Amino acid sequence: AFESEKVDFAVAYAAKAFLCVAMAQLVDEEGLWLDVSSGGELYTALSAGFPPEKILFHGNNKTRHELELAVESGVRYIVIDNFNEIEYLDGFVRRKGRKQQVLIRVTPGIIPSTHTYIQTGQMDSKFGFGLATGMAMEAVIEVLSRESLSLKGFHIHIGSQIFALNSFEKAVEVMAAFVSEVKSRTGFEAEVVNFGGGLGIKYRIQDVPATIPEYVKTITEKAKEEFFARNISLPLLMVEPGRSIVGNTCVTLYTIGSIKEIPGIRIYVAVDGGMSDNLRPMLYGAVYEAVIANKMKKDLEMKVTVAGKHCESGDILVKDVWLPEPESGDILAIPATGAYGYAMANNYNLQPRPEVIFVTKGKARTVIRRETYDDLIRNNFKLHGEK
Ligand code: LLP
Repeated sequence: AFESEKVDFAVAYAAKAFLCVAMAQLVDEEGLWLDVSSGGELYTALSAGFPPEKILFHGNNKTRHELELAVESGVRYIVIDNFNEIEYLDGFVRRKGRKQQVLIRVTPGIIPSTHTYIQTGQMDSKFGFGLATGMAMEAVIEVLSRESLSLKGFHIHIGSQIFALNSFEKAVEVMAAFVSEVKSRTGFEAEVVNFGGGLGIKYRIQDVPATIPEYVKTITEKAKEEFFARNISLPLLMVEPGRSIVGNTCVTLYTIGSIKEIPGIRIYVAVDGGMSDNLRPMLYGAVYEAVIANKMKKDLEMKVTVAGKHCESGDILVKDVWLPEPESGDILAIPATGAYGYAMANNYNLQPRPEVIFVTKGKARTVIRRETYDDLIRNNFKLHGEK
């Protein structure tokens, strides 16, 4: 989509949506950059042989160890989030006798319409430097004064699962104004502007998100308009989508176990997973579709609620979905679980995490094996005797 807009661009896949070694390799094969937001994501990417010069490192509280790992492994951009980071990074990079390229994360004061937990652009945010408070400009001046840090541009991320493209237009406008203000105050002209991720995807049949080409066109056209109007040449335009790359690529398969009809109230169909492999319904009230994979051609006969197997009443994966008559042993499939599903999976109730399988052109390959009970106690020590 960017190629047809004829602009300088880079697309970084946001690793937090889903990462494993094979995924990092796939992202590299597809020619994308990678956005990591922890030492663990960085380590996984490096273990996969992902080129560090195509990695950006985010986070509102990167630890000293994570910053050192990023610098030493040659990560392209560290995205500066706060003044403590400037201080530590400057000292460390100087001690190493190196220089580090950085972007500065700006908090624009834009509130897109999405779940409040995944809004990130508002002023009251733990991320970045506020524009309205003048902190963003202060950060620029501070970074420019440090010889070890080479400022390349700015970053902004307004939130996730966003349908309204005008929120992205607003982000472009705010950034162009800031780039221009920085240029007139300091003479620094941004080479890179990163607009973050956030494009929404279809979870339910009735969802109509913008398409990737529409999203890209919105950003590139608005950027041309806003930057040229201020007499600034277009920087390299960067985006870092996670959900819109992997969300719709994945289907989670469960086996139906118990089926419980509470007369006049509800039919519960329970599966062998739940909030341990998909926290999103519980955390954000996220709504999914469900089908019975081995009964795709059967009529929809019953309205049921798909429950997980965990010890919480709130462990419900899908409420009130129509299915063919379910039977114990059927395979229940929930689509659109590729983003923030496995990535947020956990071992609640000491439930082992499931296997992840890549499928292409009729071929299947396991890329993360199913956890075993031994995996669950791997880091445990006995109370007495030898460790
Ligand atoms: N860049 C930054 C700096 C981010 O914080 C995020 C997501 C992205 C890019 C990718 O955004 P995406 O294109 O995936 O919307 N766990 C939540 C989503 C949290 C998003 C966190 N940041 C969920 O399941 O909805």
